[in-house]
Amino acid sequence: MSVKAYRGALFHLTEDPALVGAEASHQYEVDGLLIVEDGHVQKAGAYADLAPTLPADAEVTDHTGGLIVPGFVDTHIHYPQLDMIASYGEKLLDWLNRYTFPEEAKFADPAHAAECAEFFLDELMRNGTTTALVYGTVHKGATDALFAAAHKRDMRIAAGKALMDRNVPDAVRDTAESGDADSRALIEAWHGKGRLTYAVTPRFAPACSDDQLTRAGKILEEYPDVLMHTHLSENADEIAWVKELYPDADGYLDVYARFGLLTDRSVFAHCIHLDGPEYQRMAEADAAIAFCPTSNLFLGSGLFSLKEAEKYGVKVGLGTDVGAGTSFSILETMDEAYKVCHLKGHKLDAFKAFYLATLGGARALNMGEHVGNFEPGKEADFLVLDLAPTPLLARRLKTCKNIEETLFVLAMLGDDRTIAHTYIMGEQAYSKG
Ligand code: GUN
Ligand code: ZN
Repeated sequence: MSVKAYRGALFHLTEDPALVGAEASHQYEVDGLLIVEDGHVQKAGAYADLAPTLPADAEVTDHTGGLIVPGFVDTHIHYPQLDMIASYGEKLLDWLNRYTFPEEAKFADPAHAAECAEFFLDELMRNGTTTALVYGTVHKGATDALFAAAHKRDMRIAAGKALMDRNVPDAVRDTAESGDADSRALIEAWHGKGRLTYAVTPRFAPACSDDQLTRAGKILEEYPDVLMHTHLSENADEIAWVKELYPDADGYLDVYARFGLLTDRSVFAHCIHLDGPEYQRMAEADAAIAFCPTSNLFLGSGLFSLKEAEKYGVKVGLGTDVGAGTSFSILETMDEAYKVCHLKGHKLDAFKAFYLATLGGARALNMGEHVGNFEPGKEADFLVLDLAPTPLLARRLKTCKNIEETLFVLAMLGDDRTIAHTYIMGEQAYSKG
C-alpha cells in the first residue's frame, strides 16, 4: 500500500450547483490535504484534520500557494484536427470539405497517427485535461494509435473510429460493413482495457447511410457500457441537409433515435438549435450534450443555451472541439462559455463553470463514479493550478475576496500557463517548466 498526500488550497464540486445551490455544491479548504492511496482518493479535507491521520511513511508533497482541483474533462475533441486548427473563413460544411477531410486523410499512415496521438495527449496534459471523449478518423489504425498511446499513460480516454460511408471524399470513406467490423475489432481490443472506453462514433447523420446507423445501434445494444458520440444540430445548412435526407423524421435528433442511438450513453456535440421537445427527449433518454463554445463561435454556428438544457435537466459537459474549437484549454473554454451564456441572457457562475469542467463532464461521459471530484475511492486525476502564472493574474487574484471570485478570475483569464502540475492516478504526468 502506498500512501501519498498533497498539501495546498483544495477545491472540488460534490454536486451540480444548479440543483443544490452554490454553498452545498462544493468543498473548499484554504489549507487542504488530498490523500491518495494506490492511485485512488482516500480522503480530501483540511490539512489540520487529516495530517495527523497519515501513516508515518506517507510521502507528502507541498503545493502550498497552488490550488488543487480535479482534472478537467473534455467531452468533445478531434485528435486528427491538430494540424488544421485555426483554418480561415468557412462555416461547417465548407470547413469540413476544404480543410478537415483532406487533413484526416493523412491518418491512413500509422506513423503519422502515432506521432499525432502522442502530441495530442501531451497537449491535453499541458492543459490539465485528464479525461476526454475523442474522435478518431475513419481509419481503424488511427484509433488504435490513440488508444495505445493513452493506455501507456494510463489515461481515462474514450474514443472511437469515425463512421462515414456517404457524402464524404473517397479517402475518408468506409462502408457500412467495414465500419461495423472495425468498430467491433476496436471494442474487442481496447474497451475496458485499463482506463479506456470505446465510443461508437457516427460522424454525423449526413455522412452515414441507414445501414451504417442501423449497425451502430446494434453495437450499442450488444455492448451495454460502450458510449455513442456524434454531432447534432450544429449549423443551419447541416440541419436543412438532414431534413432533405430524412423528410419523414421528426427533427434531427429523431434521426439518431430511429436507429437506437439516443441512449443514456450518448453524447451529442453542439445541440445549438434543438427545440423544446428535443430537449425533453434528450432528458428522458438521459443523453448528454457537449457544449463547445469556442468552436460554435469560430465556425459561426450559433449560441448554445445552457439554460434550456438546465431547464429540461439534460446532462452537459464542456467540449473544446479542437480543431473547430480554438483552444485545448478548458479554462479558456469556460471563458467563452461565460460569454455565450451572457449573450443568451443568463449568467454562468464560477461554481457551475468548474462543475461543467469536472464532475458535470464526467457524468456526461457516464464516468461520474470514477472521476470528476475527490470523493473517496475515485481515481486520483488532479491538477495544481498556479495562482500567479502571469503578472496580470498574480495581481488580480490578490484582490479576490473568496474562492468563487478566485475561480471566476481563473476561468476568465486562465489558460495552459495556469496548469502547474497534472497528476494521473496520483502520479505526476506533467509539470510546467
Ligand atoms: N460535424 C461533422 N464533422 C464535424 C467535425 O469534424 N467538427 C465539427 N465541429 N462538426 C462536425
Ligand atoms: Zn466535433
